[in-house]
Amino acid sequence: MTSPRNIVILTGAGISAESGIATFRGPGGLWEGHRVEDVCTPEALADDPVLVHRFYDARRAALATVAPNAAHVALARLDAEWLGELLIVTQNVDDLHERAGAKRLLHMHGALRSALCAGCGAQETWTGDLPPGSLCAACGAAKLRPDIVFFGEMPYDMARIEQALAAADLFVSIGTSGAVYPAAGFVQGARHAGAETLELNLERSGGSGYFHETRLGAAGVLVPEWVEQMLAS
Ligand code: OAD
Repeated sequence: MTSPRNIVILTGAGISAESGIATFRGPGGLWEGHRVEDVCTPEALADDPVLVHRFYDARRAALATVAPNAAHVALARLDAEWLGELLIVTQNVDDLHERAGAKRLLHMHGALRSALCAGCGAQETWTGDLPPGSLCAACGAAKLRPDIVFFGEMPYDMARIEQALAAADLFVSIGTSGAVYPAAGFVQGARHAGAETLELNLERSGGSGYFHETRLGAAGVLVPEWVEQMLAS
C-alpha cells in the first residue's frame, strides 16, 4: 500500500469485548439477555418504556465498571499522532474511545451517556438513571429517552461520514459483524472511492469478502500492532 493520508476507522462491539462489554450477536444472539428488537426499536420504546429505559440504565451504570482496553488506547494514540485526516466512526454506545482520549470520533448509533428529547431533539449529557417522563432542560417536555439510534431510525452524522469515506484512502473496520446497515456498507463506499480496505476482527464477518485484507484475532492485539505499523510508515 502507498502511504495513506486519510483514514476512516469503523469500530463495533468487538473492540469493547475485551473491556467486558457484551457484543450484540454473541452466543444465543441475545444482548444482555434480551433480543435486540425488544430493546432497540421505536415500537419497543412505545410499548414498554419502563423495560427499555431500565435496560439502558443498566448499560449506562455498567460503564462505571469497565475501562478502555489496549485497542481503544492504540486508536487514541493514532488519532493524536496521525498528521493526515482521520475519523473514528463507532457503532458503540459506550464511551471507551473518548475515555482513552480519542478526539476525532463520531457515535453514529448514539451514546449511553446522553439523553435525547423526543419533543425538541435536544441532547444532554446524562450519567445516572433516566426514568420515562424525565424533563428536557431545553423545552421542559417530559420526553427524554435514551439517546440510542434504534432500528428504523437514521444514524447520526451520515453526511460527515460519507464525506470522509469519499476522501479516504484507507478504511479500517474493527470488531464488527457487518450485519447492520448503513455501517456494513461503508467498506463498499470506501472501495468505490478508491480506498484500501482492511478488516481486523476475531472471525470473518459477513462483509469480509469486500475487504482487500482481513487480519483475524483479538482487537487488543491486532489494533496496537496495526497502529505501530501505521505510525512507523
Ligand atoms: P456484533 O455483536 O454484531 O459483532 C461483533 C463482532 O466483533 C463479531 O464479528 C465478533 O466476531 C467480533 N469480536 C468479538 N470479540 C472480539 C475481539 N476481542 N476482538 C475483535 N473482534 C471481536 O456487533 P456490531 O457489529 O457492533 O446497533 O453490531 C452492530 C450494531 O448492531 C450495533 O451498533 C447495535 C446492534 O444492533 C444499535 O444499537 C443501533
